Amino acid sequence: MDKPTQQKILAQLSEGFINKTSASASAAVKAPVTEFTCTERLEQEKRTFFRETPLLMGLSTDLPDTDTYVATNETGQPLLMTRDAHGRFRAFLNVCRHRGAQIAAPGRGRKRRFTCPFHAWNFSNTGELIAINRESSFGCVEKDDFGLTELPALEAHGMLWVRPSTGPMFTEADVLGGLSEDFRNWLEQEHPFSEEQVIDANINWKLAIDTFGENYHFDVLHSASLANDIVGNLQTWDTFERNGRMVFAGKEAFRYVHENKVPIEYWPYREVTLNVYFLYPNCILLVDNAGVDVLKMYPDADNPAKSKTYHSHYLRPEHKEQIQLQGSEHPKESRFEGFNRVVVDEDYAAAETVQAAAASGAQEHYIFGKNEPALQHYHNTHRQGLGLTPLQAYLE
Ligand code: FES
Ligand SMILES: [Fe+2]
Repeated sequence: MDKPTQQKILAQLSEGFINKTSASASAAVKAPVTEFTCTERLEQEKRTFFRETPLLMGLSTDLPDTDTYVATNETGQPLLMTRDAHGRFRAFLNVCRHRGAQIAAPGRGRKRRFTCPFHAWNFSNTGELIAINRESSFGCVEKDDFGLTELPALEAHGMLWVRPSTGPMFTEADVLGGLSEDFRNWLEQEHPFSEEQVIDANINWKLAIDTFGENYHFDVLHSASLANDIVGNLQTWDTFERNGRMVFAGKEAFRYVHENKVPIEYWPYREVTLNVYFLYPNCILLVDNAGVDVLKMYPDADNPAKSKTYHSHYLRPEHKEQIQLQGSEHPKESRFEGFNRVVVDEDYAAAETVQAAAASGAQEHYIFGKNEPALQHYHNTHRQGLGLTPLQAYLE
């Protein structure tokens, strides 16, 4: 994010802080609860969003050097992402061309070649089939025809994108939709990978995204936790095609700069804000003082009431240097301890009651207020992706 944009956002937050106003949609809308319960909808989503749409899989620092890899089944397809000897990022189906075993177990590491654990066919990290165990048993195999299946993959501004199905390549504009400048700035300096977790939740994957989509709830649900750090019911909201950006204000910092009448041009942007990006279709990316969080929400294969959140944390480079100066490679306390006290114990717990109410048939619709513009946007971009009409105004 460039300096003029930062100044504009800080001015908007300052005005809202003083006047107790916030970004607003034009109308409250209603959303059918079946968005969270319908198995047919789940099948459409799996096909459209998790097969045919490019997904943010992580940051460039997940593959920190040449000949590193990440294998993951999180999208529902077995994926193998590699950085080859020349530093090029690639993605493949992690499926052996002999009889389909996964050639790399889920995880991350360093390898130039992968030997299938089933019968030892050997593949390079650029996807070529290098060697066949007891090759004479297969007759005259043309090895060039049996390389790993390569997927469209893009590395841009420190981010790794993959479409989990074969087909034409996508572009940076397709996935970042006007956010290139933001990430060029945020990730210009590498944010090293720090740690990862998977949160299993009894909520639809979109409900998991929704918990990050407004701060109207901060002073209520998080009255004893996050409300101490972030000003409630105050946010900016900007859309970038299918993506969106919300910015929240740090409570202590905003009090300080206003009480002391510090001119906005001197406010240290990253120290006084929490930046929340929605990256279509399933990612929440947070940028704060400590680093970057990438949260990828995935549906369960069969049950619309279950999801998994894959969460990775990347350290702000200055923090990594401080930690190393203290003689360590990792922060003393895991990022996830405090994070989960808020997100798992409060947000996802509240969302479970929403999911249960949806399943009970207690009501047909939810309402997204004017002060929840991001939720309106997520749900409408998802609906648009599925060829559905936009959400209707609540009062008509
Ligand atoms: S399935 Fe991979 S070598 Fe047989
Ligand atoms: Fe929350």
